[in-house]
Amino acid sequence: MITINFIAAHADPISVKGRIGQSLMEAAVAAGVDGIAADCGGMLTCATCHVMVAAPFVALLPPADGEERAMLAFTATPATPASRLSCQIMLNEALDGLTVELPASQY
Ligand code: FES
Repeated sequence: MITINFIAAHADPISVKGRIGQSLMEAAVAAGVDGIAADCGGMLTCATCHVMVAAPFVALLPPADGEERAMLAFTATPATPASRLSCQIMLNEALDGLTVELPASQY
C-alpha cells in the first residue's frame, strides 16, 4: 500500500491508502474522496477524474497518451500542464506520497 494525498480547493487535505496496480481513480473512489466523480469507471470517456499532479511527481509518471490528452480537453475545470486523468495513473511503489490537487469542479 502507498499513501496518496489529495488537496481540495475548499476542504482539508485528505490522505488515503492505495494498492500497487490500482489506478489513482480506483484508490480515490474506494476511499470515498469527494471530488473524483469517475462517471465512466475508468473507460476514458468522461474526464470527471481530473487531477493536477504536484510538481515533484510529474516526472515519475509516464506521459499521457493521445487518448488521455484528447480527453483532457473536456475537463470542466480547464486543464493545466499538470493535469492528468486519475484513471490513467497506475500506482506503484515509487509513487508513495503522491500528491494531487482536485479541480474546483468535475462538472
Ligand atoms: S474515470 Fe472517466 S475518464 Fe477517468
